[in-house]
Amino acid sequence: MAASLIRLHFHDCFVQGCDASILLDETNSIQSEKTAFPNVNSVRGYDVIEAAKRDVERVCPGVVSCADILTLAARDASVYVGGPTWTVRLGRMDSTTASRSQANTDLPSPFVGLDVLISAFANKGLSETDMVALSGAHTLGQAQCFLFRTRINSNGTDIDRGFASTKTQNLMQRKGLLQSDQVLFSGGSTNRLVSDYSRNPRLFASDFANAMVKMGEIPAAEQNGIIRRVCSAIN
Ligand code: HEM
Repeated sequence: MAASLIRLHFHDCFVQGCDASILLDETNSIQSEKTAFPNVNSVRGYDVIEAAKRDVERVCPGVVSCADILTLAARDASVYVGGPTWTVRLGRMDSTTASRSQANTDLPSPFVGLDVLISAFANKGLSETDMVALSGAHTLGQAQCFLFRTRINSNGTDIDRGFASTKTQNLMQRKGLLQSDQVLFSGGSTNRLVSDYSRNPRLFASDFANAMVKMGEIPAAEQNGIIRRVCSAIN
């Protein structure tokens, strides 16, 4: 779940800001983000956040937003698996709306090139450094076969030929599982960062922590947010 919770937070913040919009179920008035292409049959961990919310509501009803719980869960997930920690500022509000269409346009595809990745993150106020550091979250978790089957069996020059039979991941050895990971080390402007991080894990840890704070503070689009009673529905 650590991987899934960190990704859930990313997919929340890139759509309408960090407002827990990703947690809303489909209704007559809400087009759920859960069925957007980047999320459907892929994003996991909704129940973990709902269970945490239930516990918090029991002792302190109506005070802590689902968006704050999601942000804290992502930080705690990193700490739990031995990754960096950081301080989470609180006070996010939950949305009363969701946007499946923005989830489809604003969450980057794993098949795009470096320029598209850089601009997708710039659109959210995140730098090239933030983008590379945050991609380091792919140290954790899983990807489904259909996303890399073609790449891993290709004769391309950006992927190690023996990779199909190994399990390690390392961009500098051309063992990036997703194309969007490997393009970070393919001769472009981010090469230097990847090699710096490979030599200096502490630099990676501190850039990752800073970027998680920045991503977690992408402002909500909605002015009149609420504190939801349950995360999957508006009150
Ligand atoms: C740079 C652009 C990014 C692209 C194109 C991308 C794409 C993907 C894809 C395709 C998967 C596999 C999903 C599946 O097979 O169901 C994945 C998994 C994952 N992503 Fe990303 N991602 C990006 C950035 C990020 C960021 C910024 C974070 C968090 C800070 C993140 C965290 C994760 C994690 C932790 C997983 C594993 C999830 C699990 O095992 O449940 N990704 N990503």
